[in-house]
Amino acid sequence: MLMTDLIAKKRDGEELTTEEIRFLIDCYVSGKIADYQMSALCMAILFRGMSDRETLDLTMAMMHSGDVVDLSPIRGVKGDKHSTGGVGDKTSLILCPMVAACGLRIAKMSGRGLGHTGGTLDKLESFPGYNIAIGEKRFIDNVNRIGIAIMGQTANIVPADKKLYALRDVTGTVASIPLIVSSIMSKKLAAGADVIVLDVKCGSGAFMKTEEDAYKLANGLTRIGKLAGKKCAAVITDMDQPLGCAVGNALEVKEAISVLRGETKGDLLELCLTLGSCLLVGAGIAEDKEKAEAMLREAVDSGAALRKLAEMVEAQDGRAEDVYDTSRLPEAPVKLEVPSEVSGYMRHIECEKIGLISMHLGGGRATKDSQIDLSVGLVLHKKVGDRVEKGESLATIHASTEEKAREAAELLRACCSFSDEPVQRPTFIKAIIQ
Ligand code: URA
Repeated sequence: MLMTDLIAKKRDGEELTTEEIRFLIDCYVSGKIADYQMSALCMAILFRGMSDRETLDLTMAMMHSGDVVDLSPIRGVKGDKHSTGGVGDKTSLILCPMVAACGLRIAKMSGRGLGHTGGTLDKLESFPGYNIAIGEKRFIDNVNRIGIAIMGQTANIVPADKKLYALRDVTGTVASIPLIVSSIMSKKLAAGADVIVLDVKCGSGAFMKTEEDAYKLANGLTRIGKLAGKKCAAVITDMDQPLGCAVGNALEVKEAISVLRGETKGDLLELCLTLGSCLLVGAGIAEDKEKAEAMLREAVDSGAALRKLAEMVEAQDGRAEDVYDTSRLPEAPVKLEVPSEVSGYMRHIECEKIGLISMHLGGGRATKDSQIDLSVGLVLHKKVGDRVEKGESLATIHASTEEKAREAAELLRACCSFSDEPVQRPTFIKAIIQ
């Protein structure tokens, strides 16, 4: 088989066979295919697309390029969730304990944040002592014992994606639906769960900027998940403004705990009920969406979901007391309110820029190796559609110094625009794709 023939075949709009796809992934990972040839192929795929059969073959070939986690020693149905990433996205910290409290097994491998989006592992490390590297044996034992564990990805999950994504990133070929689908689903399938729910974010703070693209991606992800034999659903959600109010690691953990305590409702709770019911119905734990939502609400109202989070933190070397008393979590020395200079209705918040403010405060990584400050970030007091009076606080900045706080306050004001007329709140859940 010659790579030049495969590039030409795809360039001319033909389908690649299963063997050809396996060949090109195997040879690319082992270094027998050069980056310049692979980038030509990615560009041909971007323009010509791939059939579902080709996308599934690519997903499976990528999945088998590294370790596939064997969750079979875990009793019961295993669930997983993936988010395409956004600002203030602390969903896993709420959703995972909620569904675990309802009997779904959560054996989740998460990642760190980069750029304007945060990562679940960084947030979890806000619990002093939380160990993200417990190893596969303890991971599986913990899930069998308490129903939930979240740890860092083991080293060799889908090496093909690490190499291919880095190449796509510098060759203008990220924005191809089959390439995105195979990248995401190869990693999800390698993580071993039976039921998968995908949160596809859409808007200015998200990877998919338009609803049309978000639909295409959500449909592609669920089709490939099902063809791979998994129960799979996707939810398209708004990311034109941050999710919830807190942005920054420990601040997001505090907000997540407040949802689990039943004190905070809004978009975050709505999202966790929707994603959670997809998981519980997919796992056969609930008969339908209504019954699933009732179970999830009960898990919050009874305190079972919060207890599940505390059990997980304790089982991974943290302290359960830190879940029940959030004043023990990292706290920034400087807090600064950001009074509004005008009265009106909040029309728009530049979502990605809010994520960047938190990053500049030290809460996010500019590069993979940056050190982060878990205590800093911001808490929004107004969201799109809210009435704002002049002098009312738009947000509280949590910073390490007065100077950084003042800079962040200026940037934050510049992210908000107002209208004299009432502004409709955006629809948060745009679609559920079963
Ligand atoms: N996220 C991924 O994991 N892969 C892509 O290709 C794009 C976004």
